[in-house]
Amino acid sequence: HPDSGVQVCVIGTGYVGLTAGACLAYLGHRVTCADASADRVAALRRGTIPIYEAGLDELVEAGASSGRLSFVTSNLDAVHDADVVFLCLPTPQDADGSADLSRVLAVAAEIGASLKEGAVVVNKSTVPVGTAARVAEALGRPDVHVVSNPEFLAEGSAVRDFLNPDRVVVGSDDASAAERVAALYAPLDARTVVTDVASAETIKYASNAYLAIRLTFVNSMAAVCEASGADIRAVTEGMGADRRIGTAFLKPGPGWGGSCFPKDTAALVRTSEEHGFDFSLLRAAVDANAQHRRWLLGKIVGAVGGDVRGRRVALWGLTFKAGTDDLRDSPALELAHDLVALGAQVRAYDPTVTTDVDGIDVARSALAACEDADVLAIGTEWPEFSEVDLSEVASALAGDVVVDCRNVLDAPAAAAAGLLYTGVGLRGVG
Ligand code: UGA
Repeated sequence: HPDSGVQVCVIGTGYVGLTAGACLAYLGHRVTCADASADRVAALRRGTIPIYEAGLDELVEAGASSGRLSFVTSNLDAVHDADVVFLCLPTPQDADGSADLSRVLAVAAEIGASLKEGAVVVNKSTVPVGTAARVAEALGRPDVHVVSNPEFLAEGSAVRDFLNPDRVVVGSDDASAAERVAALYAPLDARTVVTDVASAETIKYASNAYLAIRLTFVNSMAAVCEASGADIRAVTEGMGADRRIGTAFLKPGPGWGGSCFPKDTAALVRTSEEHGFDFSLLRAAVDANAQHRRWLLGKIVGAVGGDVRGRRVALWGLTFKAGTDDLRDSPALELAHDLVALGAQVRAYDPTVTTDVDGIDVARSALAACEDADVLAIGTEWPEFSEVDLSEVASALAGDVVVDCRNVLDAPAAAAAGLLYTGVGLRGVG
């Protein structure tokens, strides 16, 4: 895209900040990314990408060679000539479930005096309603407007999601500030929702909470299907054909996890409580998600006769989903921990994990993990798992049960290889 002449600063080079920075440079803006970690900045300048994200390395390289993307350690150096400053900082979960804003507010206080006259500050981090006002206060700059522009990037497809968004949400109580931020995305020709700050901040939480509730519903339906002789794959296909429902995000699994859904659902429950509303539906979804994982844990334990003490469990997949190396709040890893806590020996394999994690033994291959194991469980939907020769799995295992928490294997092929296969909500193989 042609040079826009707009100077953008992105503070924080996590997966959101780095993706946003590289994509904004691709769209024609001049982007300076700042990160407090000197090691991270040095690595990025060498073109080494610290996260596993499809297409990101090419974009960073293209940005660096066009001169439109640079990396610095000093926030003040990064903001001094910026027209728009994006805050892409972590907002981890506090002990009480609320989002911890200390990083966001500390950076706002730091950069306030150094911002260019009339600059716009954008909150990209997931922050509760009211944060824009708190950031404005920390900035201490009446001439600088704070805009909420939440991200809807999923890990593993962040670049694609940024460049092909379903919508761009821009919230501001100042129309021209909103317009300036929306204009950055103009080359994408995306549907843009321009609204007030509180609504923009809420759209992010509402979207993630809705998706989490939807998955909880599917996982509960899977359990019902399995018990009643229906097949969740047929059920979700039939449901998804209704345009009001849609086909995406209907795959049962071991429960939702990752760095966003658990944190954002807890934060929305908490914010609602603070405003005097008991979000019982969302609380129930959080509980049902944990219950669902226990149900699958029960299947694995049942496969070895009800007591896993001293038994060997092979586990395929540790990341919270395929296509990422992220282990944060991973249901697969939680299953591993639960099994270890019950006395099992867990040997895991994950294509992105090469060293042992949290006391879980990590094997070099899917087959190596199965060696002499009493049961095989599958926790992450890596496509390569469906390529493994199941007769070799059957001969490597000491036992014969496979508990596929992602429905990635072909049930008839598993049966043909002599395995006792069970999935999530599948007819006839429960
Ligand atoms: C999620 C949202 O999808 C993004 O839109 C949002 O921007 C992001 O959170 C965020 O707030 O930053 P992400 O956490 O990367 O993205 O992962 P998802 O692909 O949404 O998956 C979340 C969880 O749901 C995973 O545990 C995944 O395995 C599970 N899932 C997803 C299913 O079990 N079934 C599905 O059909 C889809």
